[in-house]
Amino acid sequence: MKAITVGSEAHKELFCREFIDTHDPYDPTRMAWPELDEASVQRLRTMPFWDEAISTESDVAVKVQALVAQQTDPLLREAIALQGFEEARHANLLREMLRHYQVPEPTVTAEKQHPDPEWNFLRVGYGECFDSFFAFGLFRLAGEARLFPPPLLEVMEPIVREEARHILFFVNWVAYCRAQRPWHLRPWHAAQCAAAMALQVWTRIRTAIAAARGGDNGGEDDFMLGVQESLDLDFSPRHVVETCLRENAARLAPYDPRLLRPQFVPGLAKMLAAVLPR
Ligand SMILES: [Fe+2]
Ligand SMILES: [Fe+2]
Repeated sequence: MKAITVGSEAHKELFCREFIDTHDPYDPTRMAWPELDEASVQRLRTMPFWDEAISTESDVAVKVQALVAQQTDPLLREAIALQGFEEARHANLLREMLRHYQVPEPTVTAEKQHPDPEWNFLRVGYGECFDSFFAFGLFRLAGEARLFPPPLLEVMEPIVREEARHILFFVNWVAYCRAQRPWHLRPWHAAQCAAAMALQVWTRIRTAIAAARGGDNGGEDDFMLGVQESLDLDFSPRHVVETCLRENAARLAPYDPRLLRPQFVPGLAKMLAAVLPR
């Protein structure tokens, strides 16, 4: 396998092509929804996070799609437009599922948009790096705990699989954009990324605090922690973190090994796993 230089034309071709070529053209209106027993349907109806999940997916779609118009490179434009399409499709797949199982229609709230699409994309990307890491593990644990029937999790699998592609694309896009800038502008780009990441981590800390107090999080795009709370999975924190680490590695394994992988959240999780009680 030919090595690639981060920031090169070959790097851009590789992370965009990998993303575009692994797109799954499923149609949310034509899914084979499995027959569920009454207890499973009831569980779906009482899950408190559908409003937040669909609002988040819709908001991410708007933010990603806003970046498309700024792209002068056709390959980057195609890849980012495809991600925007996939995010909107996530919201539609969730809507279709709720409709199919007659879960009351969720209330979708639109977030105020920052005028800079690149800043929005940075925030969305770092948010997804954080949320997806935990979503991978929680999806596995929810399956093992039979919280949802396996055929239903199978229909929802494309969302989880696509989030792995999104974060893979994002970390490579960030590295590519930074390498493309003249050297004296790179520290500013690094500072912007650090600020975007810090803000996303902060919104999640706020959610955790709000959840601990039994309040809400002010509508921020951080439903993963809410999901974790409401699933009420009876596992030790260490088991949860270790499962997330394993699932994160497995979810990213199918893609070209020359592409960069998210480092920050798995790195923190590894440190956490070492100190958490079993
Ligand atoms: Fe999504
Ligand atoms: Fe995504």
